[in-house]
Amino acid sequence: MIDLETLAARALAVRPRADAPYSGFSVGAAVQGESGSVHLGANVESASYGLSICAERVAMAAAAVAGDRRIVAIAVVTDVDPPATPCGACRQWLAERASPDAPVLLVSTSGARTQSTVGALLPEAFRLR
Ligand code: THU
Repeated sequence: MIDLETLAARALAVRPRADAPYSGFSVGAAVQGESGSVHLGANVESASYGLSICAERVAMAAAAVAGDRRIVAIAVVTDVDPPATPCGACRQWLAERASPDAPVLLVSTSGARTQSTVGALLPEAFRLR
């Protein structure tokens, strides 16, 4: 069962772990893996700015190394309203690790929410085969 409310709460709770001294923009993410387990991520930045990594990919990488290569849902928390949407790189990762109908819940600390799907965020995604 996909529990988006739990994912949103876990993403909110992990957001303070963001290491974002350059942008000051903290992002928390929680993904539910195929096993049912929840895996967390927050953005981690580099002094060489382009080497920074988004919360969504940190969460998906954590899921993969925990054995959940496939994910069934993701929630992302930021402090902007409307809630921030995943960047293009994260959309590609999502498209490779979740089905097009997998839910993407975007939440603001203000309480605003939007819900989308992996397929709506990246139609016609590149696939190797
Ligand atoms: N960021 C994320 O973690 N996820 C997104 O969906 C968009 C952007 C991070 C990257 C960088 O550390 C900061 O937010 C500002 O772009």
